[in-house]
Parts: sequence; C-alpha cells; structure tokens
Amino acid sequence: MAEIDSNTKVVVLTGAGISAESGIRTFRDADGLWENHAIEDVATPYAWQANPELVWQFYQARRRQLLGVEPNSAHRALVDLERFLGDNFLLVTQNVDDLHGRAGSKNLIHMHGELRILRCEKCHETFDYMSNEHLTDQYVACPSCGNERLRPHIVWFHEVPLQMSEIYSAVEQCDVFITIGTSGHVYPAAGLIEVARQNGAYCIGINLDNPMNIDLHDEFLQGKAGELLPKYVKKIIN
Ligand code: OAD
Repeated sequence: MAEIDSNTKVVVLTGAGISAESGIRTFRDADGLWENHAIEDVATPYAWQANPELVWQFYQARRRQLLGVEPNSAHRALVDLERFLGDNFLLVTQNVDDLHGRAGSKNLIHMHGELRILRCEKCHETFDYMSNEHLTDQYVACPSCGNERLRPHIVWFHEVPLQMSEIYSAVEQCDVFITIGTSGHVYPAAGLIEVARQNGAYCIGINLDNPMNIDLHDEFLQGKAGELLPKYVKKIIN
C-alpha cells in the first residue's frame, strides 16, 4: 500500500464504475449502446446538428435520472480523503452525473461536462438548470441572448475535454494517482496515468474488471468501489 500522509499530493480519476452502485449504468457494459442508443446518434456535435430533438430528449432523460439517484459510499470516501488532504487533493471525473458534488467533493473537475448544466452556443453562458421547468422535453431558451435552444454542457465525441491544462499540471505534480471505476478506453483520460508515471507518481487502481491500462498501475484492487474504497481511505486516514 502507498504511503500517504496529509502532505502527499493525490489526484483521483473516476469513471462510470464509481456511480454504478448508485444505479447509473456504465458505458462499456451496454455493448456499445448507451441506454439503447448508439453513441454517434446522441453524443456527437453532428448528431445535435442533424437530430437535435433526439439528442435533447436523450439528455433530458439522463438529467431527470439524476433526481432519482444518490451518492454511494465510494463517493463519500473521496470526500473523507479530500478532508484529510485539503489542497493536496484533486478529483478529476469523467462522469457527467452530479454525485461527487452532492456527496461533498469540492476540488473537483468534470472533464466531460455536467448533466446539470446547459450552455448557450451563441453567447457561451452556462446555466445550472435542474428545476422541473428545465427538465421537460421542450427546448430551453437562453435567458441572456434569446437563442431558442441551450445545449447540454457535455463534452461529446470529437470535442475537447474541459480544463485539461489544470488537469495535466496537477497530474504532473502528484505523488499518488488513483483510478477508480474506469475502463481506460477513452483518451485523453486514459492517458493521464502515463503522465503521472512519467513524473514518478505511485499509481493505484480500483475497478471491477481489469482496465485496459492495468499494467500501468503499481497496485490494483479488483472489486466494487463502494466496498473497497471506504476501507482503503480509512487505512490512509488512520
Ligand atoms: P466504462 O463504462 O468504459 O467503464 C466503467 C468501468 O467501471 C468498467 O471497467 C467496469 O468494470 C467498472 N465498474 C463497474 N462497476 C463498478 C463498481 N461497482 N466498482 C468499480 N468499478 C466498476 O466507463 P468510463 O471508463 O467512465 O465519455 O468511460 C469513459 C468515457 O467513455 C465516459 O466518460 C464517456 C464514455 O463514452 C464521454 O461521454 C465523452
């Protein structure tokens, strides 16, 4: 087990697996389909141009799903780890759900965007819109510039993930890099572990199945994040 004290700089990268025990389906488990849709039909800018209604309805359903799920013990364990490490902790998530934030994580980057948020493609403003009036199948207009439809603030395939320079800088400087519930298929997220290793970080993985990049981990724990992570964090803190 890695030596971690309150001065250790830790970056955690999470993926869909950490939210699986809250009842949100992962990507790779669905045979290339996401809630019965091909990814290219709902998660690309071309889909939004060609068939905005389908894309909108798909994301509105994902947004409404957030109202029925709760953070689990793995999300909460990361809050405990952040309390212990303070500013030495950064959580980078590929997940677009809001479970880390609702659990209480603060130093958090959503590199693939957030379901809670809608964005105007004309004036670029973002809106945290989760009240009932914003969750129907009707488009939501931009209150700032009047554009008739806001888009999901999601990084679709062929788009660039968010806050990458902050992420790279933290990963380059970290002592310990931890991946949780991610299959290691999607770049650039899957390549962050290589950056961490090149800069001498000790790399830990927690995942139900072997991720693609398992060989890059110094230590790998196989199992459910909700069961393994709280115990691991407790050991660190004690
Ligand atoms: P994946 O669905 O590719 O991988 C989820 C991983 O979590 C798998 O390796 C599972 O074995 C593991 N897993 C499932 N249940 C678990 C549990 N209870 N505890 C621990 N691990 C568990 O999801 P991601 O790696 O997050 O991108 O996918 C990365 C990106 O690909 C997503 O952010 C999304 C997707 O297409 C965009 O939307 C841009």
